[in-house]
Amino acid sequence: MVSYKELGLVNSKELFAKAVTGKYAIPAFNFNNMEQLQSIIQACVETKSPVILQVSSGARKYANQTLLRYMAQGAVEYAKELGFNIPIVLHLDHGDSFELCKSCIEMGFSSVMIDGSSLPYDENVALTKKVVEYAHQYDVTVEGELGVLAGIEDDVKAEHHTYTDPKDVQDFVSKTGVDSLAISIGTSHGANKFTPEQCTRNADGVLIPPPLRFDILEEVEKRIPGFPIVLHGSSSVPQDKVATINKYGGALKDTIGIPEDQLRHAATSAVCKVNIDSDGRLAMTAAVREVLATKPAEFDPRKYLGPARDQLKELYMHKVVNVLGSNNKA
Ligand code: G3H
Ligand code: 13P
Ligand code: ZN
Repeated sequence: MVSYKELGLVNSKELFAKAVTGKYAIPAFNFNNMEQLQSIIQACVETKSPVILQVSSGARKYANQTLLRYMAQGAVEYAKELGFNIPIVLHLDHGDSFELCKSCIEMGFSSVMIDGSSLPYDENVALTKKVVEYAHQYDVTVEGELGVLAGIEDDVKAEHHTYTDPKDVQDFVSKTGVDSLAISIGTSHGANKFTPEQCTRNADGVLIPPPLRFDILEEVEKRIPGFPIVLHGSSSVPQDKVATINKYGGALKDTIGIPEDQLRHAATSAVCKVNIDSDGRLAMTAAVREVLATKPAEFDPRKYLGPARDQLKELYMHKVVNVLGSNNKA
């Protein structure tokens, strides 16, 4: 058993309390490799932002949980070396079983998500409560989820949103003891969050997606005032990155994300954690494709992963400063 405290990591409790009262949100960025991690830390140190490093089940399979944990431990030292000791949370994204959450806690994670959102309500409550009881013994914070996002979460695919029912939230939070709650108000995972048919067009012909259900968020806030809320599926799918990918041989189609002004608005509410993964994937892929297409003789991975890292850093800094408002909150 390794305590995250020995690794220099923090849990999310204090960060969320400050974010709710301070009307900003903490970035939760997924990482699977060194370049993503370097750019996240560089961006958050430069902007003096706290950060949540997220590890999904897919990331564990790809990169190995032990290696990812040591990388997060390294990130703490790396941040100090860069000159600012930012609070860093190591979080399990979309944990789907008690055993997985327990294993991550034993490995040094400071926060876990138990995602029982696809289970019947009572089973979600029972599973979440079991994880909370275990996690809290070690001062590890737990995120639960109510409502189902459309799109793909690891291996679970939902065709339609099942919006969170505000009537359930108080009961869920009090029965489970969770520290934060992910809700479904119209965001979804991946780069194709809406079909063009679901959108309207503005005067310039640009597709405008349906707005997030802020009415549900407000209802939730009324029922559990000040309780930390989490938004998954919050990539905005920058169209310049999509255009670069397609210019250099990509084939992305109908990519539509959540407009950043809506996320900025959400960040001023009880939403205190915003999950962003796909935008980083797009930035990285755009940079790699551009180098490989314009410099076909290049075969040193540092020559395309380096520019990808720079693009990622720029993207993360933009999210922190212009969307979430977590800069200077470390
Ligand atoms: O919620 C999904 C995250 O973007 C992680 O995706 O399971 O492909 O690593 P992944
Ligand atoms: P995006 O696919 O919108 O980046 O969402 C990521 C996420 O919710 C990770 O849990
Ligand atoms: Zn998610």
